[in-house]
Amino acid sequence: MNAYIEDIARHEGQHVVIHGWLHNRRSSGKIHFLSVRDGTGFIQAIVSKATVGDEKFKQADHLSQETAIIVHGNVRADSRAPGGFELDVQDFEIVSGSTDYPITPKEHGVDFLLDRRHLWIRSERQHAILRVRHEVITAVRDFFNDRGFILADTPIFTPAACEGTTTLFPVDYFEDQKVFLTQSGQLYAEANAMALGRVYNFGPVFRAEKSKTRRHLTEFWMVEPEMAYATLDDVMNLAEGLVVAVVSRVLEKRRRELKVLERDTSRLEAVQPPFPRISYDEAVKILQDKGQPFEWGGDLGGTDETILSQHFDRPVAIHRYPAVVKPFYMEPDPLRPELALCVDVLAPEGIGEIIGGSQRLASYDVLLQRLKDHNLPQEAFEWYLDLRRFGSVPHAGFGMGIERVVGWICGLEHVREATPFPRMMYRVTP
Ligand code: 4AD
Ligand code: MG
Repeated sequence: MNAYIEDIARHEGQHVVIHGWLHNRRSSGKIHFLSVRDGTGFIQAIVSKATVGDEKFKQADHLSQETAIIVHGNVRADSRAPGGFELDVQDFEIVSGSTDYPITPKEHGVDFLLDRRHLWIRSERQHAILRVRHEVITAVRDFFNDRGFILADTPIFTPAACEGTTTLFPVDYFEDQKVFLTQSGQLYAEANAMALGRVYNFGPVFRAEKSKTRRHLTEFWMVEPEMAYATLDDVMNLAEGLVVAVVSRVLEKRRRELKVLERDTSRLEAVQPPFPRISYDEAVKILQDKGQPFEWGGDLGGTDETILSQHFDRPVAIHRYPAVVKPFYMEPDPLRPELALCVDVLAPEGIGEIIGGSQRLASYDVLLQRLKDHNLPQEAFEWYLDLRRFGSVPHAGFGMGIERVVGWICGLEHVREATPFPRMMYRVTP
């Protein structure tokens, strides 16, 4: 019977056929131990001369790494085995060979590995990370779908900036029109929310970010919910619910992967509501008390975020930043108009901001003024101004970066491992 390694527990005592590749191999002379992977997991397959015969036994001793093989064997429980089961091999077939596989069990430098990312993703760690990523994305979709949000996609080619003009990617194709790759679907999500109430969009976004940090990619995936008739408080509640749902889903479904990653899951178990919510003013105070030279009025930098996130055992929501450090579309705080009704959620353990959101400007006049203040071309935003001309209401939403969340949950040093093929300032291959 054909079986997948991830389901192997269901096949205890049965004869199964696994379609996979040879991950690794060692030998004790009398027995060969094959580590076989099939995309769903890894299992140790035991080859003994008595069972497979002389010729097969000799062949097994020459199998090279990443040879494609089909293995027939009996499933046996073994408490010492990583997945709890081993395979006693009855027979195997070689589907195709693999010569001089470049990624060997020894240590390799990260550039060497990134150059071979198309192969690196076969390794046990990368395999585990990509499966966690899948779970995160599934949890996100379920979260919004279960709450009645409508998935409404937003375009990738856009004629206007959303998150500031310094990180725009120009596209040289369309005649007589300046076009960029989208930085965020938000502006369109606002239009979708006025049509559908509660919506989300989920897709790749692009930032021509001149940052070479462990948190920055030039192409990453963002999920963006947007709600009509909603405020900053609604956004903070929704963001908290989403993060809790995602983390608990991964804890529930991806224990094995977190174990491969040697993740301290107690840090993830601590991600329970309510998250601390502090104002920017309070954040500044914490930083200053900790001796960080930070002046009220500036944006929080990477180090500031790290210090703040280490101050709490779970994600922290920081709200009401000075409007000047934030994009043009945020609603001012009616009590202190120099502040924006916005929130950033910082993950613990140093990953920094995973969510950025706000209540949006509802007033036509203020929005028009902001576009001018930010030197944004009004023509490109006429359609967006229409949303304030025709039945404008308070509305709010946020964006969550998937790679940052995966990086945090997996405990990665760098977000580049949180996506199959990372795109960064100095890397667009393979
Ligand atoms: O804070 P950002 O820039 O917010 C927006 O784009 C809003 N328009 C979203 C909205 O309100 N609909 O980005 C949102 C999130 C960040 O919190 C972070 O998780 C991620 O996107 N992010 C990045 N991830 C990887 N590499 C980068 N260069 C990122 N820039 C932002
Ligand atoms: Mg942000």
